[in-house]
Amino acid sequence: MNVPLVDLRKQYAPLKDEILAGIGRVFDGMQLFLGENVQALEKEFAQFCGAQYGIGVSDGTAALQIILRAMGIGAGDEVITVSHTFIATAEAIVLAGAKPVFVDIDPQTYLMDVAQVESKINARTKAILPVHLYGQTVDMEPLREIASRHGVQVIEDACQAHGAEYKGRRAGSLGDAAAFSFYYSKNLGAYGEGGFIATNDGDLARRIRMIRDHGSERRYLHDLIGWNGRLDEIQAVVLRAKLPHLEEWNEKRRQHAILYAELLKGTPAVTPVECPGNKHVYHLFVIRAPKRDELQAWLKSQGIFTGIHYPVPIHLQNAFQSSGYQAGDLPVSERVVGEILSLPMYAELETDQIEHVTNAIKTFFDQKP
Ligand SMILES: Cc1ncc(COP(=O)(O)O)c(C=O)c1O
Repeated sequence: MNVPLVDLRKQYAPLKDEILAGIGRVFDGMQLFLGENVQALEKEFAQFCGAQYGIGVSDGTAALQIILRAMGIGAGDEVITVSHTFIATAEAIVLAGAKPVFVDIDPQTYLMDVAQVESKINARTKAILPVHLYGQTVDMEPLREIASRHGVQVIEDACQAHGAEYKGRRAGSLGDAAAFSFYYSKNLGAYGEGGFIATNDGDLARRIRMIRDHGSERRYLHDLIGWNGRLDEIQAVVLRAKLPHLEEWNEKRRQHAILYAELLKGTPAVTPVECPGNKHVYHLFVIRAPKRDELQAWLKSQGIFTGIHYPVPIHLQNAFQSSGYQAGDLPVSERVVGEILSLPMYAELETDQIEHVTNAIKTFFDQKP
């Protein structure tokens, strides 16, 4: 039996007619960017997140960068974030002209260790950028309290957290602004590139909207230096067809997570922790396991495809060599990267596929205790 990490064909099949009809209407009308589908998606996904304003953008990296620039964050400024995330989080800070300052993560959740944030705040700090990694939100209440005491902004990297909840509120409504990615494998994914910004700040939303389209509100008149960060109509058609199913898909992911955890009990594999008050949406189902590389190779030999998200923390990446960080600076981030393994996870995963994965893990540890 083959178990891929993600299987998009199963999700597409029941939506095919609706998506193709919508794309056909876009081609008939030839309004290809920022048209009626993008405008509708902006309302629908902002409402889903519980945010007042929504702005469709070209991708998640652009979303982060545009938020930072719209907040006036740039050269000489510092933004506090984590090193255990996808490179784009820190890359966007650098692209905006600012400096990422890294804090370590909690060893149970792999999320920003909020207790470490305050000691990194100084006069140059302009924002804190928590990452809701793997589909679970950071502990936002104490983080917001620290931010408001120091007058700094909070930007959610919600690129892996569509529909995740913190104390009954969804990612996208938990900070001053939030960035989402619609990369194809996300819980809500486009069939190309896409991204989204959610905020409750009307002035910020207006600047974001301008920066997304070359700093312009009126054609060929440019009030700000912006960016080409527009979302296209075809992606908006795909996303609008998928959005009504997102809650149900997230629920299925949660059910799969429960089954995985149940079946892996008693093995050396450490399964994910859902914090009280949180609703984890398991964009990725990440275990920690001894002999991780051998286990991954064994699973591959059994037709099971896994991933490592991510193998090298950002502060130790070649691209960040000049940032002044060294091995040993962020011990938890550095330790977990050698142990984490993302198991297959998507809504359409079947029970027998999950059993195949967990049986293979058990066999591995029975043979190599
Ligand atoms: C945590 C995180 N931040 C930012 C991004 C960037 O999003 P995109 O790939 O759409 O530019 C991603 C996407 O993979 C991500 O997972």
